[in-house]
Amino acid sequence: MTAGDNWKISRAGPLRGAVSPPGDKSISHRAVILGALARGTTRIDGWLAADDCRATMEMLKRTGVSIKALNDRLTSLEVTGVGLRGLKAPDPEGPNPGVLDCGNSGTTIRLMLGVLSAHPFSATLTGDESLRKRPMKRVVEPLRKMGASITGPDDGARPPLTVQGGELSGGDFELSVPSAQVKSSILLAGLQAHGVTRVREPAASRDHTERQLVRLGAKYWRDADGWHCVEGGTQFEAKPIRVPGDISAAAFFMTAAALVPRSEVELLGVGVNPFRRGVIEVLERMGARITVANEREMDGEPVADITVKGGAELRAVRLAGETIPRLIDELPVLAVAACFADGVTVIRDAAELRAKESDRIATMAGELSKMGAKIGIFADGMAIEGGTPLKGAAVESHGDHRVAMALAVAGLAAPGETEVRDTSNVATSYPGFFADLKELCKGGA
Ligand code: S3P
Repeated sequence: MTAGDNWKISRAGPLRGAVSPPGDKSISHRAVILGALARGTTRIDGWLAADDCRATMEMLKRTGVSIKALNDRLTSLEVTGVGLRGLKAPDPEGPNPGVLDCGNSGTTIRLMLGVLSAHPFSATLTGDESLRKRPMKRVVEPLRKMGASITGPDDGARPPLTVQGGELSGGDFELSVPSAQVKSSILLAGLQAHGVTRVREPAASRDHTERQLVRLGAKYWRDADGWHCVEGGTQFEAKPIRVPGDISAAAFFMTAAALVPRSEVELLGVGVNPFRRGVIEVLERMGARITVANEREMDGEPVADITVKGGAELRAVRLAGETIPRLIDELPVLAVAACFADGVTVIRDAAELRAKESDRIATMAGELSKMGAKIGIFADGMAIEGGTPLKGAAVESHGDHRVAMALAVAGLAAPGETEVRDTSNVATSYPGFFADLKELCKGGA
């Protein structure tokens, strides 16, 4: 295995050892944002110091929030809250006055649009080439209805988006796709709006924002009809938070361990939120040998240690409906597992995959096909014919971190050499991925 911008990977011996995955990306974004909107100082431990979360942190700093690193790795932070509607216009003396760079991060742009919509200044949110293609109407429309002015290409369909915020009023918003980013954006705006704001989704997505709102004592509740409700204008106090390990990072090693015979990998301190743990359930349904132990509660989130043993024969599964939002980011690596399973794995209701950092239906099907996989695609999913032997090949990440890591797992399980090209984007979510993978491979040598 060699690192660098292109990874060279050969079929591995067993993976063995224990890894504590880096902090959960979704919770890390929310920890700094809610810390900024709280009154008082928030200490955060286990924070994910990856590019996506750093983009959120930098944006908060540029809008007047003091965030102090408590260690060199930036995993412990102290955020001095400015309170609801307490952010300041981005420093006019700084580089690109008024322009805030979200990099590759959809969570940064969508959540921060909600936050900034309630502030009486103007800012332009932009990002890299991939982010500038991603759909934004889903947040722009509700935030406009609440009173924000948001402009951008194609009537605000894509970044760069210029938001002029101000006094917002609550409202009811029924989402057409399940999305935690959209739900959270509206709730963050609603916290700072007049009256009650209500959001409802067609299927449940991750609830990290809601859990922290409850913990912080904000006026959030879920009503009998499934609406997520917030009442605006009630200031909450800061509370320290420890961020659990990211199950979306752990999923790559879980799958690799399941695929490579004689592996045994322990993943310690992993967040097992019910709306994120779909990957565990699906690998189990496929026949993988998984143990979830030491389930405990950590600052509002369930956490556990997960052990995966390799070598079990895997079988195909059908994934659709309400399962999909519970494993949306794990579908690339589950597609790899499906290539090694007996039967045809069908994934439907996952059109959202096309709106991620890359079109993950097209990129995963295209790249795995280069390794010999037989994959048919639908507008909303894939049919993966398992049991077709894969072989090493040169494959591309398409600048997408999860595609790069999923293809690395395919390379570990396939004979011959796999070269995964253009992997620098893993820094957006898991800068230490390759080093941790190498350790696990060494552990089995
Ligand atoms: C996220 C929600 C999901 C997920 C993304 C992170 C979040 O996106 O794919 O990686 O932190 O809220 P959607 O909200 O678009 O489903």
